Amino acid sequence: MKDIQTREDIDQLILQFYKKIMVDPIIGYFFTEVVALDLDHHIPKIADFWETTLFHQAKYKGNPITPHLAMHEKSPMTKEHFDRWVAVFCQTVDEFFSGQKAELAKQRAQSVATVMLIKIKSS
Ligand code: HEM
Repeated sequence: MKDIQTREDIDQLILQFYKKIMVDPIIGYFFTEVVALDLDHHIPKIADFWETTLFHQAKYKGNPITPHLAMHEKSPMTKEHFDRWVAVFCQTVDEFFSGQKAELAKQRAQSVATVMLIKIKSS
């Protein structure tokens, strides 16, 4: 199995992740009910975030924490939700990729989720 090497690889990873997460019984409703997502706009932004995170390309310019704080105001986000997000993300990475960047992606997902949860709890 190959490692995550290009933007195309990231696009594939994110597409496959969203296929799972949008219909997930535990957190799918955040993506379909809590926020009315415009996927054509949202997916490239998420791919930019991962390109910046994994390949240090200055693509993503936002703040990933802010929309989650706003979301938490509408519908509480818990540790269970973040654990589920990380589990589905890591499962998707493992399904398609293997190597240094794949491991880094899983580590970063866990560390960003941990920071988000801390910020949400203290908000
Ligand atoms: C329970 C966990 C999570 C849920 C339910 C969730 C759901 C969402 C939703 C619905 C949005 C769109 C918000 C909006 O446009 O108003 C969003 C944005 C985003 N999420 Fe998450 N997310 C979770 C965790 C994470 C984690 C752990 C990461 C990173 C590792 C992440 C990265 C992002 C990024 C980069 C954006 C775009 C932010 C921007 O607009 O600049 N999310 N998320």
